Amino acid sequence: MEKGTPKIVIAFDGFSSSGKSTMARALAKRLGYRYIDSGAMYRAVTLYALEHGMIGADGTVDAEALTKTLPEINIDFAVQPDGSQHTVLNGKDVESEIRNIEVSSHVSAVAALPAIRHDLVTKQQAFGKSKGIIMDGRDIGTTVFPDAELKIFVNAPAATRALRRYEELKAKGQQVSYDEILANVEQRDHLDSTRAESPLRRADDAIDLDNSDMTIAQQDAWLDKVVAERLKAL
Ligand code: CDP
Repeated sequence: MEKGTPKIVIAFDGFSSSGKSTMARALAKRLGYRYIDSGAMYRAVTLYALEHGMIGADGTVDAEALTKTLPEINIDFAVQPDGSQHTVLNGKDVESEIRNIEVSSHVSAVAALPAIRHDLVTKQQAFGKSKGIIMDGRDIGTTVFPDAELKIFVNAPAATRALRRYEELKAKGQQVSYDEILANVEQRDHLDSTRAESPLRRADDAIDLDNSDMTIAQQDAWLDKVVAERLKAL
């Protein structure tokens, strides 16, 4: 990026497993921006709730107990030698654990709790104070950074997204079935879009990206063009 170019806030929102994180992370690297995965924060709180018996066998979350312990849940991101970031929960690297199917099955219920959302949104907004940030999630362009200079809304059919997530988890050596992943993707899409508190919604001023038939390189080139146009228009 040219010297003197002002830094902006870029919001990526969209349905589960749409590839937001991969493209947002890579874009942040190209721009020299900080990348924050807001979903990882909801996942870390969910892992904490599971580990502390706050989610029952029927999936019910003990909202009161979890809300009370919020001050004890410390979430951070640790930059790795290769430049990637790992999610750290109370001092422990949980990057791999928070992606497992158990966390994925409960995260949308946890993320629907207003007290949890208020707490995490405040933390996310603090990350954006210094600009030069890219954040991905469900409500970044609508609630976390409604004034973001650039908002992208990513979507692709559920079957395409489930296949991507299936291959990603299989490559990491996790034992998963495609049907289980597809069911999880569809369940989270539904819960995320229908919850009362800041549901997944496309911001009115967002730019749509359907990346079903795009390679990573095509996706990156599309994004670079959109970012360049936005920066020029500042
Ligand atoms: O990467 P994937 O699409 O599987 O999801 P994620 O970004 O890791 O987010 C996991 C879950 O956290 C979502 O299904 C939402 O329930 C919740 N979430 C949210 O409510 N708001 C956000 N800003 C980000 C995630």
